[in-house]
Amino acid sequence: MKIALLGSTGMLGSKMAEILKAKGHELLAPSHSQVDLNRPYTIENYFKDQTFDVLVNCAGFTRVDACEEPAKFSMVLNVNGTSAGWLAKYCKRTHRILVHFSTDYVFNGQKEEPYLETDKPDPLNTYGKTKWQGEKLLRAEDPFYYLIRTSWVFGPKGDNFVSRMADLLMTKPRIEVVDDQVGGPTYSGDLAQFTMELLEKKAKPGLYHFSNAGSVSWFEFAQEIQKQTGYVSCEIAPVSSENVFRPAQRPANSQFDLSKATGAVGHAFRVWQEALGDYLMKDFNNEPA
Ligand SMILES: NC(=O)c1ccc[n+]([C@@H]2O[C@H](COP(=O)([O-])OP(=O)(O)OC[C@H]3O[C@@H](n4cnc5c(N)ncnc54)[C@H](OP(=O)(O)O)[C@@H]3O)[C@@H](O)[C@H]2O)c1
Repeated sequence: MKIALLGSTGMLGSKMAEILKAKGHELLAPSHSQVDLNRPYTIENYFKDQTFDVLVNCAGFTRVDACEEPAKFSMVLNVNGTSAGWLAKYCKRTHRILVHFSTDYVFNGQKEEPYLETDKPDPLNTYGKTKWQGEKLLRAEDPFYYLIRTSWVFGPKGDNFVSRMADLLMTKPRIEVVDDQVGGPTYSGDLAQFTMELLEKKAKPGLYHFSNAGSVSWFEFAQEIQKQTGYVSCEIAPVSSENVFRPAQRPANSQFDLSKATGAVGHAFRVWQEALGDYLMKDFNNEPA
């Protein structure tokens, strides 16, 4: 397949590029300035002379707290929301498959069980609201699409919880981490593999939830990072999210039910602890400081 990839410099996009090249697919990877999701005309301008089969959109504005800044709102809405509609319209008209990513933050976190694809979104923050808007616009255009919601992503080339924790554990005597938000960590490499499997197996199009198997609180996640990195001199203290000010509210529960994703590719996914070990061994030590 020839795959056009947006966001190839980011955490998910860089793994996607690595994996699809390793699988022998051809890659077309326009830069942010060549296809800018805040400027719709750049989509048609760039792609009109290109041939490709699938458009994978890993671009997004992912700094969740920064999304709350009023001055950024129209850009955030375009990049995370409106542009999903533009891409869907373009893919439908030109008969390309569209792969787009969304987030666990479309949910309000009040459900006690893992979230199903059929559960109703009710986002708590601007990031979640704009991503939900993007989902609705994409589905209204109805191209052949895979819309994949994911959560708590870690991997190389990104500002993520694992690399931030590892830095803090190395340098601080004590840190506090919230223990009342539960979710499913996702290794970018496993998400990229899952995405390629959907495409290669010609799975049924539609909405899928994907994370690694198992769920955890941020506090327990930090404890596991400490165990696996061996940075044991730092004390990790649990704290309630009420005592930590953040501009964007987060859901208390954002675990995903993975049955639909499992069924689509015909196998279960590995647990997040194993994926974390793989990331720390393969990718983390090779990242530039
Ligand atoms: N990270 C998570 O925990 C998480 C959780 C759930 C869902 N997701 C979703 O997964 C997808 C990938 O996230 P990620 O964490 O890999 O993101 P990331 O590391 O922040 O990378 C974002 C990518 O988007 C590009 N980009 C930003 N603004 C753009 C614009 N206006 N036009 C074109 N490209 C633009 C960036 O390019 P430059 O660097 O050149 O600006 C970068 O390549 C997103 O849809 C995100 O919402 C992520």
